[in-house]
Amino acid sequence: KLPVLHTVAEVRAWRQTQRKENKSVGYVATMGALHAGHLSLVDAAAAQCDSVIVSIFVNPAQFAPHEDLDQYPRTLPEDVNKLAAACLPSCTCVVFAPSVTEMYPRGITTDRTQQRGTFVEVLGLSEMLEGGTRPHFFRGVATVVAKLFHIIMPDDAFFGQKDVQQCCVLRAMVQDLYFPLVLHVIPTVRDPEDGLALSSRNVYLSPEQRSRAPTFYRGLCRARDLFDSGVVSREKLISVVKEEAAKGGLDIEYISLSSPEDLSELETVGSSGAVLSGAWRMGTTRLIDNILVGFK
Ligand code: PAJ
Repeated sequence: KLPVLHTVAEVRAWRQTQRKENKSVGYVATMGALHAGHLSLVDAAAAQCDSVIVSIFVNPAQFAPHEDLDQYPRTLPEDVNKLAAACLPSCTCVVFAPSVTEMYPRGITTDRTQQRGTFVEVLGLSEMLEGGTRPHFFRGVATVVAKLFHIIMPDDAFFGQKDVQQCCVLRAMVQDLYFPLVLHVIPTVRDPEDGLALSSRNVYLSPEQRSRAPTFYRGLCRARDLFDSGVVSREKLISVVKEEAAKGGLDIEYISLSSPEDLSELETVGSSGAVLSGAWRMGTTRLIDNILVGFK
């Protein structure tokens, strides 16, 4: 049975035991509705660390009032079973599933003008790309992850490449606030049949939408093939993604070719490679994906 901790005090006591026993702690932050992408982060943490803690918390601060906070899938018992099945007997794994008041003792609302208390903002990396449509998003993510880092005090933390901008924002936060931990980025896990990046939001798609969704990734792959054949121009790489996504009738929000370091837009792919990323809508569902080009 996997222990499920609900309070900060319980996590602190657990953390102290790990320290006394000289065990390194790996941390995976999630909002639950766990899939194989989340479990690959847990595997990476278990491979690197003696003990693993997985947080499951649907964070209101990273949703806007019009977004899917209420509909977001909440499946704690199933999530705990999946983790129990995924964790090796040799690795200690615990779950931290706090309540909203435990994480936000002063309360929290998605209405930014009504928020009170302490927030963390990573300026410069939060406004571009995803921040364009979701101006509240990275402030909410940085705030909750800073709180969770302070509660858990992990040695290593594991995040998915799928949310590439989230990784950049959190890497900057770790540097700026001197969190004593190593942040690891783990490759995106995809549907083995059609390459669609696994996401908790894929459950919102109708079968018809689900069948068209992988055209974005197909476009990203075509662009990477084009790059591998010598094409470095922004315009050409982005236009094949558009072309492929148009076959699926995707409603594209943005496609970006940007620097892997600071996500600034690139005209051409240079020696440090590039991130090709984008977001699209299918009905009321918004999906994102990205691929690295120029990396071996
Ligand atoms: P969530 O969307 O649940 O994702 C939790 C972690 O799993 C993130 O690091 C995300 O990048 C990773 N992940 C999601 N899909 C993946 C996939 N297909 N392959 C590999 N990794 C994948 O991201 C969040 O939650 C939240 O913003 C959070 C960091 C927990 C803060 O609330």
